[in-house]
Amino acid sequence: MNATQPESHIVQWLTWTQDTIGFGTLAATVLLIALLYDQFSYVKSKGSIAGPPLKMWPIIGPFLDSINPDFEKYKAQWASGALSCVSVFHKFVVLASDRDLTRKIFNSSAYVKPCVVDVAIKILRPTNWVFLDGKAHVDYRRGLNGLFTNRALSMYLPIQEGIYDTYFDKFVEMSKDGHVPYMPIFREINCALSLRTFCGNYITEEQIKEIAHDYYLVTAALELVNFPIILPFTKAWYGKKAADKVMDIFAKCAQMAKDHIKAGGDVTCTMDAWIAIMNGRDFDSDHGTVPNKKIRKFTNKEISETIFTFLFASQDASSSATTWLFQIVADRPDVYAKIREEQLAVRGGDPNVPLSLELTEKMTYTNMVVKECLRLRPPVIMVPYVAKKDFPISDTYTVPKGSMIIPTVYPSLHDPEVYERPDEFVPERWLPDGDGTKNAKNWLVFGTGPHYCLGQKYALMNFTNMIGKACMNLDFTHKVTPLSEKVRVFATIFPDDDCLLQFKKRE
Ligand code: HEM
Repeated sequence: MNATQPESHIVQWLTWTQDTIGFGTLAATVLLIALLYDQFSYVKSKGSIAGPPLKMWPIIGPFLDSINPDFEKYKAQWASGALSCVSVFHKFVVLASDRDLTRKIFNSSAYVKPCVVDVAIKILRPTNWVFLDGKAHVDYRRGLNGLFTNRALSMYLPIQEGIYDTYFDKFVEMSKDGHVPYMPIFREINCALSLRTFCGNYITEEQIKEIAHDYYLVTAALELVNFPIILPFTKAWYGKKAADKVMDIFAKCAQMAKDHIKAGGDVTCTMDAWIAIMNGRDFDSDHGTVPNKKIRKFTNKEISETIFTFLFASQDASSSATTWLFQIVADRPDVYAKIREEQLAVRGGDPNVPLSLELTEKMTYTNMVVKECLRLRPPVIMVPYVAKKDFPISDTYTVPKGSMIIPTVYPSLHDPEVYERPDEFVPERWLPDGDGTKNAKNWLVFGTGPHYCLGQKYALMNFTNMIGKACMNLDFTHKVTPLSEKVRVFATIFPDDDCLLQFKKRE
């Protein structure tokens, strides 16, 4: 039998069909079958959970909403059911909005794994550790734990304190004539903090400025749907170019850190810490008494890709948290005064006492303010996962293999059954008998399970120290506008007016 025979049958059949019923009718029939199939498979996947009975917009679904996300529409979706669904371009998406289902997804690594938009794999590179799954992920991540122990975190503090001081001067300078939007400079200070913490003095001021600017291109490239290949001069192309440039800089920093540690230098930044552990220095235990578990040697390329994931994971979330934190504290003079009082008290009345881990740990009230701000305005409202196989998430519903499944943290952080007045800012919830402390399981700001945020402690310390020092050394006020409380979704969440502040130096 000739191998081309089936093909020629199809061609013959198409030619016959076209001759008999005409091209227009053929095209319309194919389109109709595709539409019916799309609707049929949506209805089948949807089963009993909340969601429109049929896709309102055939094929594309609510794609246009995802290009221009509206926070109120998200809230309506979460309120529609503990499990609800949408379908975009034949991609079936299940959203979980109740605490227990959300926790279940985070903890079901046998059924799900984190997923990112397609272009993120190209930008972060497919070889990157964050795309590992199961045991390989656990093993790799274990090797990174030493970078975020108390001991390591306390070594990063002097570098971070220098950045707060430099940027506080900038804050004062830029609003000397009145209130201006601070969201862009909060992005910049967080970028500088991350880069100096991760790369120490191996990175130059010029490079920091360049990266703070270029990183916008990376965020802008992360659209939900992209063309399968990266076309020149598109957002994805600029984003990838920017990311490659940053990773080249990181690889050079990694080599400098290796030389520094080999020569017996002290640990000053994350790269130093990692290389010290690789070289067998007793650095990964918090007490310095447990024998060091030596980890394998990592190449400069691996180090640069991993450090880039830290920047990637922290940049947008930290910028969002910083913006809300300054806005909320400025709007609440009582909270502001209490932070200032505590900051001076922990320093024994001397504002020049440098930051240390012991000092940060004494800032109980400031820490409560940070936790409450993250509850009220969680930077990461949803975390996309994908079902590796059929996932029986409840007694009545199984998420079909290949679906996107999204644990949403916002509803559990605003759960009226747990938090009294959930939409109000009440730091006292975090007192030992407060509703926040008693319901710690609801505070899913940093996720939970095998992928929970690696930088959680680092981030909390950073926000506590930054807002604490700012309240102590500066006077700042917020100009409230009708958009101040309107939430804009741009990867994370921001006040829609970009937070108009004015800073003055305190004498
Ligand atoms: C306000 C600041 C931050 C928030 C709200 C935040 C939140 C999150 C969330 C929700 C996840 C997903 C957790 C899960 O799937 O269970 C995550 C993962 C991650 N975060 Fe953060 N994050 C923040 C800052 C940071 C910082 C500063 C770093 C690094 C220094 C960092 C590094 C990471 C990494 C590496 C992962 C992936 C972990 C893994 O897959 O094993 N994050 N973060």
